[in-house]
Amino acid sequence: MSRLKTKFMNTVMKNPVVVASGTYGYGEEYVGYYDPALLGGVCSKGITRYPKPGNDGIRLWETPSGLLNSIGLENPGIEVFIEKHLKKMNSLNTAVIVNIGGNTIDEYLESVELLNGCNIDFIELNISCPNVKVGGMAFGIKAESAAEVVSKVRKISKHKIMVKLSPNAENIVEMAKACEDSGADGLSLVNTFQGMAIDIDKKKTVFDNLYAGLSGPAIKPIALRMVHQVYKNVNIPIMGLGGISTWQDALEFIMAGATAIQIGTTNFINPMAPIEIIQGLEKYCEENNVESIGEFVGVV
Ligand SMILES: Cc1cc2nc3c(=O)[nH]c(=O)nc-3n(C[C@H](O)[C@H](O)[C@H](O)COP(=O)(O)O)c2cc1C
Repeated sequence: MSRLKTKFMNTVMKNPVVVASGTYGYGEEYVGYYDPALLGGVCSKGITRYPKPGNDGIRLWETPSGLLNSIGLENPGIEVFIEKHLKKMNSLNTAVIVNIGGNTIDEYLESVELLNGCNIDFIELNISCPNVKVGGMAFGIKAESAAEVVSKVRKISKHKIMVKLSPNAENIVEMAKACEDSGADGLSLVNTFQGMAIDIDKKKTVFDNLYAGLSGPAIKPIALRMVHQVYKNVNIPIMGLGGISTWQDALEFIMAGATAIQIGTTNFINPMAPIEIIQGLEKYCEENNVESIGEFVGVV
């Protein structure tokens, strides 16, 4: 599998396939399906400074080609995460990425400071959580707010920072450039799109929070376009995601400019998808006599 070896920021990964935040827990749930050591990396559920119980009411809603979620960043808080879950993640023998969310800049900074003492590969800074009522999303929409949080975090973090962009940003390219200029070491895109569902019998919205985050196959062409546009305008590496279900989808993102990719919603439909994607990419490289998957990055 050496053809798939990938360097992302400082981290050498066995392959470019990472499982996305919020769809893989802390890695334990999938151990029964395959050895997570086969993956390029595992990204934690979004972690905040303080514990969050998450949203009330319906949290997941299937649509014909995607999933709406309104989890509300349920998590045990950074201290419990470090104490309880990070040790287990570190034993998975794959790159460990910690996804950080927050309502205020201080919350981000405190979490990042606590992570400074930890053994992790890098941080994914989620400035785009659409399902928390205050803060969160605001950082991901306006380039100026994103720049502020990214530069402050960059100054104090001893780890590399990959900033996760929201497709709901006012202008995705400006947002990406603002993050790069503020010291982001890499970018991941995209998070979920704002969506909605209505229960026509109750004549009410399905989610207590009104809107929810749309992911899965429905968003793939838009996410792909955004990765391509951002790749053409920045010089830092990109992890691409949004509706990737097959190795062919993954290769599209790589050809659009992603150095690595993440698998999210598909984990719920086919838990073996990340492994099938790794195998498919390896076979494609072999058949095309390509020594390194990196040769495909941004060829389109
Ligand atoms: C149930 C669920 C929970 C999620 N939780 C988080 C989270 O905590 N932090 C985050 O940055 N993204 C979160 N996401 C977004 C995914 O990581 C990913 O960006 C998005 O789903 C698009 O990729 P996909 O279409 O492959 O799922 C979540 C997505 C889902 C479906």
